[in-house]
Amino acid sequence: MPQDTLTITDNRTGQTYTFPVENGTIRAMDLRKIKTGPEDFGLMTYDPAFMNTASCKSAITYIDGDKGILRYRGYPIEVLAEHCTYLEVAYLILFGELPTSAQLKDWVFDITHHTMLHETTKKFMEGFRYNAHPMVMLVSTVAALSNVYPDSKKIDDPATRLLQIKRLIGKTPSIAAMSYRHLGGFPYVYPDNDLTYTENFMNMLWRMVEPKYVANPVISRALDILFILHADHEQNCSTNAMRAVGSSHTDPYLATSAAAAALSGPLHGGANEEVLKMLHEIGSKENVAAYVKKIKEGKGKLMGFGHRVYKNYDPRAKIIKRVADEVFAVTGKNPLIDIALELERIALQDDYFVSRKLYPNVDFYSGIIYEAMKFPIDMFPVLFAIGRTPGWLAQWQEMLLDKEQRIARPRQIFFGPSKRDYVPIEKRS
Ligand code: CMC
Repeated sequence: MPQDTLTITDNRTGQTYTFPVENGTIRAMDLRKIKTGPEDFGLMTYDPAFMNTASCKSAITYIDGDKGILRYRGYPIEVLAEHCTYLEVAYLILFGELPTSAQLKDWVFDITHHTMLHETTKKFMEGFRYNAHPMVMLVSTVAALSNVYPDSKKIDDPATRLLQIKRLIGKTPSIAAMSYRHLGGFPYVYPDNDLTYTENFMNMLWRMVEPKYVANPVISRALDILFILHADHEQNCSTNAMRAVGSSHTDPYLATSAAAAALSGPLHGGANEEVLKMLHEIGSKENVAAYVKKIKEGKGKLMGFGHRVYKNYDPRAKIIKRVADEVFAVTGKNPLIDIALELERIALQDDYFVSRKLYPNVDFYSGIIYEAMKFPIDMFPVLFAIGRTPGWLAQWQEMLLDKEQRIARPRQIFFGPSKRDYVPIEKRS
């Protein structure tokens, strides 16, 4: 019997089957061969929420959740956050290699020259209600770009795909900044091509009457690092949405919009909003123990804690804690950090959290920095979405080029009624 195989005996029939084991997996389709008779559909797996299902092969991001390891294309996140710019990391994620100086220069030039939004897109955004949630504006406006760039439908053409990738990475901060200005009732600011990616983002967010915006280098570097930390995270909820929606061969704007919609939920990228609301609700260090007690009694969740994959400290949270100190040196300390540190200290000593391996995740500290930078909490998931855009696009393209992938279409176990006779309305009780 070859070693890398799995032998299953079906006790319903007494028949034995042997299947190959590859990369620690068996092929779910092999199970279909296990039947009780010719009429039987064959065995399936039941895996709500994909708890134990690999839906793709990917060469982009590696996570070891038990050890707290995160690598993009083989490079540890700590090294990338230390040495690279966000656009350099976006290039790495998309093309598989770190760029040379010449490649980076061209890449930065191209992204910079795709930051402008069509005036009709600006008008589209102006139509939102004065207090529209910026994440809703982002989701809708990214989808609307599908109309601005009908060429994006040609998803089989590599050059067209690359053009849309550049447009999306270039324009997401512009849309994000416009949604922020809309929220504040300020006129929209056009991009400035002399500035770096994050400096320009800050320019579009915060420029008032000064002729030229000068970005604080600590804040722009902090944003750059935060974007790097969010750039990809393998098959998370929004990336799964990107792949699933993209698998129907819709264009990348609609698929990215769907991914951003998935990100907006409080269990995913919306968690950073929830963390801030929670820290404000706790109010002071003295109230932390009582709050933790409430969580242990099943009254809510500790937002920013726990992860489907990490069963150890999220490596991104460690880096964010360091960045927070640098940002506070410029903005002044956000007093919420003391509550967060106390919450972490108490939770990490408590058997409830220890036994369930619940550690702070990326969202636990990011919101505290964003708040110190004076972002309203509604903007937090939008900032996550800017960072995640290259990851979504890399995963989308990998999915399209993977010969094994087809339209995403899971099976179900049907629990509804079997065939019934129609009853006319006057006879229904
Ligand atoms: N606070 C209290 N208990 C928790 C928490 C939490 N934050 N997270 C999980 N648990 C408990 C959960 O109740 C369950 O307990 P029991 O075994 O007694 O039923 C156990 O831990 C396992 O949790 P789970 O819900 O089965 O885990 P999951 O993998 O389905 O959910 C999660 C992962 C991230 C959705 C969840 O931990 C959570 O809701 N966390 C809070 C929201 C959050 O911070 N989300 C951001 C995730 S990181 C950024 C991103 O990628 O989106």
